[in-house]
Amino acid sequence: MSIQWYPGHMAKARREAKEKLKLIDVVIELVDARIPLSSRNPVIDELAKGKPRIMLLNKTDLADPKINELWTSYFKEKDFAVLQIDAQKGTGVKKVPPLVLQQATPLLNKWKAKGMNPRPIRALILGIPNVGKSTIINRLANKKIAKIGDKPGVTKAQQWIKVGKEMELLDTPGILWPKFEDEAVGFRLALTGAIKEEIFDFQESTLFLLRFLSKYYPERLKARYQLDLIPEDVVELYDVIGRKRGCLMSGGLIDYDKVAEILFREFRSGTLGKISLELPPQ
Ligand code: G4P
Repeated sequence: MSIQWYPGHMAKARREAKEKLKLIDVVIELVDARIPLSSRNPVIDELAKGKPRIMLLNKTDLADPKINELWTSYFKEKDFAVLQIDAQKGTGVKKVPPLVLQQATPLLNKWKAKGMNPRPIRALILGIPNVGKSTIINRLANKKIAKIGDKPGVTKAQQWIKVGKEMELLDTPGILWPKFEDEAVGFRLALTGAIKEEIFDFQESTLFLLRFLSKYYPERLKARYQLDLIPEDVVELYDVIGRKRGCLMSGGLIDYDKVAEILFREFRSGTLGKISLELPPQ
């Protein structure tokens, strides 16, 4: 579910996340591996300050493995423990609880030094809508947890889910809003399905995708759309793919919406291959 965020929503989401974080020992942030920075809201750095952090790069089944490695190093340098996962198939999810405990070692040592009996380590999943928060919570809980809306303020009683003996997970995630003041961030969010296409111009998002693919994945474009050459002019490329795919209206004009639909679908489903739309800053 994706909603449009207004200042009221954002303030409420922030307040709710802050309240939840008070109960938490280890913060688990979830991002889309294809667009790790575009799919995170940096407000989390301020909200989670001082807590051990885990960064989960999700949807790695759709992202470029080489780029996943670059992002893993990028976040490790920023003091995150990082895992590459596919919450839908469950790949990598089993590694999450041990990593939570590892990140909580200083805290456990502190309790021990004070002679306290350790309680389970408490963790929270946080992220913007559609990054896979419910999917991973269900995996970790080993059952289906009812999904509440992405609207902040739609609350239900919070419960702790036991994950093994030593960890507890809050059954509702912390939801943050996507931050897309930058146009490119908006295109990336639209292309990956994090925000509705209508919020961002469908055609413009497609041109962004085509420009990106021409630069970083030209061979995939050539192979998928049987192109000998990639036209330098991106609109020409749009035309060529339209003609190849028979997206024509009466009079032989290209039906650009149809071409855009095909490109969106083939990108999102992974038909174009494993593609990442964002590279770590140099
Ligand atoms: P949220 O709670 O953060 O809002 O996200 P949610 O778990 O609802 O996941 C959003 C969409 O992303 C879902 O697809 C979900 O299946 C998909 N998803 C989650 N993790 C992965 C992953 O690792 N890889 C891939 N490929 N997809 C993932 P949906 O189309 O909204 O629903 P459905 O098709 O699963 O019914």
